[in-house]
Amino acid sequence: MSTFFITTAIDYTNGAPHIGHAYEKVLADVLARYHRLKGDDVFFLTGVDQHGQKVQQSAEKQGVAPQEFVDGITAKFRALWDKLNVRYDGWAATTDALHKECVRANLQMLWDDKIPGTDDSRWIYKKSEGGYYSVRQEQFLTDKERGADGEFGPEWQPVEFREEENFYFRLKDHKQWLLDFIDKRSADGKPFVVPDFRVGELRNAVEKLDGDLCISRPAARLQWGIPFPESFGAGFVTYVWFDALVNYISFVPGHDARYAGRMKDEGGRRKSRVESGEAPLLPPSAEGPSSSSFIPHPSSFAALWPPLHVIGKDIMSPAHGVYGPIMLKALGFKDEEMPTLLVHGWWNIAGAKMSKSLGNVVDPNLLADKYGAEALRYYLMSDIATGKDTDFSEERLVLRYNTDLANNLGNLVNRTLNMAQKYRGGRLSQHPNEGLQSRAGYCVSANAACFDWFSVDGALNQAELLATEANQFVEQKAPWKLAKDPAQAEQLDAVLYHLAESLRIIAILISPVLPNAAAGIFAQLNWTGPMTLAEADWGKLPDGHILGQPTPLFPRIEAPKE
Ligand code: MSP
Repeated sequence: MSTFFITTAIDYTNGAPHIGHAYEKVLADVLARYHRLKGDDVFFLTGVDQHGQKVQQSAEKQGVAPQEFVDGITAKFRALWDKLNVRYDGWAATTDALHKECVRANLQMLWDDKIPGTDDSRWIYKKSEGGYYSVRQEQFLTDKERGADGEFGPEWQPVEFREEENFYFRLKDHKQWLLDFIDKRSADGKPFVVPDFRVGELRNAVEKLDGDLCISRPAARLQWGIPFPESFGAGFVTYVWFDALVNYISFVPGHDARYAGRMKDEGGRRKSRVESGEAPLLPPSAEGPSSSSFIPHPSSFAALWPPLHVIGKDIMSPAHGVYGPIMLKALGFKDEEMPTLLVHGWWNIAGAKMSKSLGNVVDPNLLADKYGAEALRYYLMSDIATGKDTDFSEERLVLRYNTDLANNLGNLVNRTLNMAQKYRGGRLSQHPNEGLQSRAGYCVSANAACFDWFSVDGALNQAELLATEANQFVEQKAPWKLAKDPAQAEQLDAVLYHLAESLRIIAILISPVLPNAAAGIFAQLNWTGPMTLAEADWGKLPDGHILGQPTPLFPRIEAPKE
């Protein structure tokens, strides 16, 4: 059985979660649930990116230790995912001891992989570089920070010229490999980036690549990060992206930090060097990092890898599209072991970016409290095309919910159950009839095709379409008239059966997005059969099945007051 391994970006813990974070995690959750529905094994990994300068500064401002600070914010993220029913299998928090071990072991392994006949690493080198440094903002400045007069403004002052030694990870040597890899994946019909309109964007960025990546920060200016292994010399902390990107490896069950990019071939339990009390350095051996793959795979790792990374468009290039694959290559992953990037768009406010300074940041907690988690999930999944940007609007949230769920699907549930109770005491009888069967079959296939293409809005549309057609079917067949004519008894039975069966199928189709509503429909149908895609075939409700009592499923919600 294939395993679907899906990850998200890990969120910075320097502020509370906002609607963009919620969108991404719900999107990944929905795709994970769709694969569970198909019967695939799923591993869904999400988490938090807890290191870096911003966290260090925010913690200092509040007068608390950085760990205490990130623990507080992390708890907010986890509480939100619980509230929104985001069901992950693995939690990646970068201050986890096992993750730190893995980052350090990776660095060590890359450092120990020498150019034959030299003492120089194939991947990392040390270099001294000078630049203008803002003491106030604690960062190096580039020409972008200069004002119109060519000077650095007061917000940066005092500014001084500083010479700094750091470690660099080679990128530009791998430019041609990366371009070829991107092209090969597209030619093979398995684009590295989906939706594939972003492939060109990434390719252009790679074409322009002409530097390497500074992967260390002197501990004198950044303490809140993972210290470099001692063999690099004292006083270096890992650059936050070189730390964060490793989460996709370090939190995979079965990964063993002792082997860095190479994986443990047993049991699945992770054991750190700390835990095992083993020497911190990787044994140099013939099986060392310069061998071409991370084989031997542990069965648990190999069964999962490679992942689908769900990320926002802002972190495709360079982080996930350039640093990511080159890091994996350095760690011994083969081209066919590279991930796929599912790059989503942004939720904006009136066309502009949300920002704390503009005070327009949308809080998903408030929305979930006000309208319910499923109303929010439905809006986030139905009102944006995966890959594209859209504007957030509370009015649209209310409108989509009332139109699609309350008026269309909710109404269908309610009238079906009411009529079945009124005319047949809830009892269904199967009779052949020209009805909704072929439409339902089409919607099931189209829904799956949309999910397979990550078009969640398209998938939802198919379920809505079936509900709309079922409502039209009610109008056309007018069961209230059939009920008055004993000669039409079979017709009436057939209509009621088609409606109930359509509802059962719709519940399955919406379940990745609306798991509670789907369970609610099953409960009202009094149906305890499996909620799986295989069950979305027509005719599972047996002759003589007794439906339950109707209860309003999607009570209308009010538009926000101005
Ligand atoms: N910590 C890094 C990611 C490291 S992954 C190894 C980071 N964190 S973030 O908190 O700034 O962003 C997390 C995710 O939220 C990113 O994928 C980002 O694109 C997404 N979003 C942030 N704002 C967003 C919107 N307004 N709309 C949709 N998603 C957006 O980057």
